[in-house]
Amino acid sequence: MKLVVVGAAGLLGQKLVEAATASGHTVIPFDLASGLPTLAGLVHPLDITDAGEVSAAIRPTDPAWILNTAAFTGVDASEANEEKVRAVNVDGVRNLLKAAAATGARLMTLSTDYVFDGRRGPYDENALRNPLGVYGASKAEMEDIVEKDGGPHLVVRTMVLYGTAPKIRTNFALWVLRQLRAEEEIRVVTDQMGNPTLAADLARLLLAMIEQGGAGLYHVAGADRVSRHEFARILAGAFGFDERKILPVTTQELGQQADRPLASGFVLEGLRRDFGLQPLGLEASMEQFRQEVERYGDGT
Ligand SMILES: NC(=O)c1ccc[n+]([C@@H]2O[C@H](COP(=O)([O-])OP(=O)(O)OC[C@H]3O[C@@H](n4cnc5c(N)ncnc54)[C@H](OP(=O)(O)O)[C@@H]3O)[C@@H](O)[C@H]2O)c1
Repeated sequence: MKLVVVGAAGLLGQKLVEAATASGHTVIPFDLASGLPTLAGLVHPLDITDAGEVSAAIRPTDPAWILNTAAFTGVDASEANEEKVRAVNVDGVRNLLKAAAATGARLMTLSTDYVFDGRRGPYDENALRNPLGVYGASKAEMEDIVEKDGGPHLVVRTMVLYGTAPKIRTNFALWVLRQLRAEEEIRVVTDQMGNPTLAADLARLLLAMIEQGGAGLYHVAGADRVSRHEFARILAGAFGFDERKILPVTTQELGQQADRPLASGFVLEGLRRDFGLQPLGLEASMEQFRQEVERYGDGT
């Protein structure tokens, strides 16, 4: 299939380009910053907030799918940048929906567990949303416009993405590794529960879903639900670092800028039932992540 990947220089974007190219699909990669070499060639420049640019860039490619991983992803930074967040996460997706309609393509785009308030996780796809902050609210609004569009599009909620690739933003797992390597003590919350998701495994699952012609809203994340503190300890163990450097702390004590869903996590039954797909658990993901870090480093 011919696949446009938007956000192709980001963590998930790079993994999607890699997986899709390896499976023999024709991939056309776009991102805000151009020039990153990928397996599908250099990333082309595209700002999804610019409707004219989106139309001019995507229409001539005539793709079967537009795979959108681009987003304003900073949860704390979102609180002071609501307009910018909505421009990318809501209006950007609206622009991609228009390009999809014009070319007969289908859209796959990513949402988050931050659409939930974290009082009653793990959540299935039908659970009531109640975002606590600007980032989660923008993704909930995005889900609504995709649903209202009525096309056979795919919205995938995921969470706690980790992995490594060239020139990406840092993520929780890379931050933990860097601190432990520097023999720094870190304070990690014991009361934020979720399913850590290896980006490369998410890419594998997303690709299988689109190859099966998936449509609708699905939860896709790693198979195991743990606290951030447990996740950090598992990382330390897998990389041979001293777990005693990971100090337990509550979210209230840590005082992050944006509120987070605490008892989060996903029920992954829909993915198994409708696609026959099984995400990796933490042990197998950790082995793959170790190989990624050997190849690309941990960003230090
Ligand atoms: N990371 C997580 O834990 C997590 C959890 C749940 C859901 N998600 C969702 O999963 C998706 C992928 O996440 P990720 O961690 O791979 O994100 P990421 O590494 O931040 O990648 C996003 C990419 O989109 C680009 N981008 C930002 N604004 C853009 C614009 N206006 N036009 C075109 N490209 C733009 C970014 O460029 P710059 O770097 O130059 O801004 C970046 O290369 C996102 O939709 C995210 O909301 C992530």
